[in-house]
Amino acid sequence: MTEPTSPTRPLVGRTAELDDIDELLSSVATGGGATVILEGEAGVGRTRLVEALQGAAGLLGVEVCLGRAVGPGAAPYALLSDALLGPARGRDARGPVVAELAALLEVLPPERTAAAARYARADELFAALVRRRGEQGPWVLALEDVHLADACSLHLLAHLAGDGALPHALTVMTMRGVPHRDELDVVVAGWTRAGARYLELRPLGPVATLELAQRTLRATSIGPALRGVLATTGGNPRLVVDVLRTAEACGVLERSGGVVEAVGTGWLDELEKVGRAHVDHLGERVLTMLGQASVLGGSFVVGDLAALAGEPVTECWRTLRHGLAAGVVHARGDRLVFRHDLVRTALYASLEEDQRRALHARAAWALRAAGAPSHVVAAHLERAR
Ligand SMILES: Nc1ncnc2c1ncn2[C@@H]1O[C@H](COP(=O)(O)OP(=O)(O)O)[C@@H](O)[C@H]1O
Ligand SMILES: [Mg+2]
Repeated sequence: MTEPTSPTRPLVGRTAELDDIDELLSSVATGGGATVILEGEAGVGRTRLVEALQGAAGLLGVEVCLGRAVGPGAAPYALLSDALLGPARGRDARGPVVAELAALLEVLPPERTAAAARYARADELFAALVRRRGEQGPWVLALEDVHLADACSLHLLAHLAGDGALPHALTVMTMRGVPHRDELDVVVAGWTRAGARYLELRPLGPVATLELAQRTLRATSIGPALRGVLATTGGNPRLVVDVLRTAEACGVLERSGGVVEAVGTGWLDELEKVGRAHVDHLGERVLTMLGQASVLGGSFVVGDLAALAGEPVTECWRTLRHGLAAGVVHARGDRLVFRHDLVRTALYASLEEDQRRALHARAAWALRAAGAPSHVVAAHLERAR
């Protein structure tokens, strides 16, 4: 199996996005400033696209400052420091602003209130750094996983939005819809008002999904059983790659000529773990509700789920909102549809036996009350035994 993460391998199914990036890069290369908010579900390929951006910028001789947020426990300004003060900046090039900042950050207490003046100075220095950086020529500020950023970086990013796009810079912020954070909303709203482009990175379509699988396996074609499993990934590239890795690790792949097929059921338990890992970042409450929903099938009416869960419909929506933001389900009127059947199956499989039976019994009751056809009700009753 080849490594799909290698930056030298071409992206599958992202022609439009790559064209957008080229256009934005050339606009900053000729003096403009542009901001892009790149959002998409976990594993959809944000990092891969930023890598492609780095490659394209490299070809144009545009420097990229890349920072990645690492989540809770990060130091104040960790994200911006990673992008702007990292070792890649080169000690020799350290101007007085960077030197002062580096020294200041070393003595910042973790609480903003404990040293308001020092924090204000750090804000000022970071702001000066990013605003003046463009004087040396066009550049890219790529901030990855901003949804996990430290509060100080978010605070400053929100503040910077007030002046509009950074001069001579392509600023790219990547994020997922969950976990939801108010501070992040402020940043996104601020940059939206400042004219930022919103780019939603969508899952791959069926053709690109197969292409990714073929490339990864170096196959000319994929057998029907493996195709069937790949169809449950909803076009999420990470799920595609993980499914293929799992198949390979479990030894179920068979090759005949250029055709690769998955044979047998020996990998299904491991496959469930892949689906489950994909949603592990969602809170327990959301997972419980999605687990209940998995009993109703690949798509379900929210009112039926509410009856099944014994909660008001509004409460269900409140919880499911996170599943929607994470791209695990999507809405079609009053119905929700699981985006990846792999995930739904995994959620269903993680239910305890007793619990699953009880949920099917409640589903039968709720669906009968809602006027569902008798065979649907009967199928639930069958599974409730
Ligand atoms: N368009 C693509 N073509 C080929 N491989 C991709 C593509 N998008 C993502 N991948 C692969 O899928 C996996 C997840 O992508 P990644 O960029 O890390 O997702 P994200 O940052 O959105 O969570 C990686 O192995 C990556 O190489
Ligand atoms: Mg990523």
